[in-house]
Amino acid sequence: MSIPKFDLDTFIRLIEQIVSNTQVGLVVADARLPDLPLTYVSRAFQKITGYTEEEAIGKNALFLHGSDTAQPALAELRAALREGRPHHATLRNYRKNGEMFYNLLTVLPLFDEQRTLTHFIGIQQEVADLKHAEEDLHNIHAAYNARLQVMSHELRNPLQAIAIVVDLLEKQPHTPSDAVFHRRISSLRRAVQHMADIISKVLHQQPEEMSLDLEKVNFCLKLEAVVDQYAEVAAQKQITIHLDMPSEHCFVRADRIAIIEVLDNLISNAIKYSPPNKTVHIRTTPTGQLVRCDIANEGQGFSEEDKKHLFQPFATLSAKPTGGETSTGLGLSIVKRLMDKMNGSIRCESEFGKGATMIIELPIWREGL
Ligand SMILES: Cc1cc2nc3c(=O)[nH]c(=O)nc-3n(C[C@H](O)[C@H](O)[C@H](O)COP(=O)(O)O)c2cc1C
Repeated sequence: MSIPKFDLDTFIRLIEQIVSNTQVGLVVADARLPDLPLTYVSRAFQKITGYTEEEAIGKNALFLHGSDTAQPALAELRAALREGRPHHATLRNYRKNGEMFYNLLTVLPLFDEQRTLTHFIGIQQEVADLKHAEEDLHNIHAAYNARLQVMSHELRNPLQAIAIVVDLLEKQPHTPSDAVFHRRISSLRRAVQHMADIISKVLHQQPEEMSLDLEKVNFCLKLEAVVDQYAEVAAQKQITIHLDMPSEHCFVRADRIAIIEVLDNLISNAIKYSPPNKTVHIRTTPTGQLVRCDIANEGQGFSEEDKKHLFQPFATLSAKPTGGETSTGLGLSIVKRLMDKMNGSIRCESEFGKGATMIIELPIWREGL
C-alpha cells in the first residue's frame, strides 16, 4: 500500500498543531535584525514564562534571565549565537512573577538558500528535576557531614586511649623485654589498627550508608582486646574492670569493625560515667541462640526521662562524665544503629542513682546460615 504524501497546506497545519500543542516552549528570533528580536512565541512558552505574546514579541529573550546575568552558561550561548551554531544550555530563568526555573534551552540556526543566517529557533524545556537534583545533593551533603561527625566521634575514644598510654610509656623507665611495656605497645597498635579500619571503611564506601559484613567473629577475643585497651584509662580513675567470661570462647555473627565500635563505646562510657574507686562489671553469657553481654557501672545511672531518649542522637542526659571527659551525645545512637544492623539488640537497665547496665545481644554464629 502506498502512503500518500502531505501537500504543503496539510504539512503546515500539521506543524502548527505540533508547535502550538507541544509542552516545550518554542520561539523564533529574527537573526537579520539587530538584537535578535523574537518574532514568534508558542503557547507553551507563554505558559512556562508567564509572558504574553504582546509582551515578548519584538524583544530579545534575555528578559528571561532578569538580573541573573553572571551565569557562565550565558557566555557560551552568546558565542554560539554570534557564530550561528546550534547550542544547548541550562539557564536559570525567571517567570514574569519572579519565580526561578531551570530552562534547558536549545537554539538552532536557520539558513536560507544562499546560506545566510535568517532566524534562530529557540526551544525551552523546563527541568523541574534539577530542583530535585539540588535537593538530593543537599541531602547527600547532610548525610556525608553526619557520617564525618560520627567518624570524628568514633576516633576520639581510641585516640584518647592512645594519648594516655603514650604518656605512661614516656614516663615509665623500661627495657625492651619488659612485659608491661609490650602489653602497652600492643594495646596502642590495636587502637591504631581500629582507627585505620574505620577510616578506610569511611573512605571506601559511599557516604550515604555504611554497609556491614556479617561474619564469624570471636566475641570473647574482641571484648578482651577492648577491655585491655581501656585498662590504663580505668586505672587512671582508680576504676577496676571486672571481666566475667564463659569457659569457652563464643562466636557471633557480626561485623568485626562494628563490634569493636559497639564495645568501645559501651566500655568507654561505663568508665566515663563511673565515679573513681568503683568497679565496672562486664559479663558475657551465651544464652541459646544469642550471646549476651552486660556492661554495668556504679555511676549515677539514668532517670526515666533519660531512658526515653537514650539511643537518640545528641540526647542530653542527666549523667555527666565524672573525670572531665568529653561527650558528643552520639555514642549510644551509633551503638543502637550498629546493633540493629547486626540483627542484635541493646537495652539499658538502670535505676536513677544506682548505676546502669547496658545489655547487648548478638546472634550466635551458626555454620551454613
Ligand atoms: C531564539 C532564541 C531563543 C532564546 N531563548 C532564551 C531563553 O529561553 N532563555 C534565556 O535566558 N535566553 C534565551 N535566549 C538568549 C538571549 O536572548 C540572549 O541572546 C543571551 O542571553 C545572550 O544575550 P546577551 O549577549 O545580550 O547577554 C534566546 C536566544 C535566541 C536567539
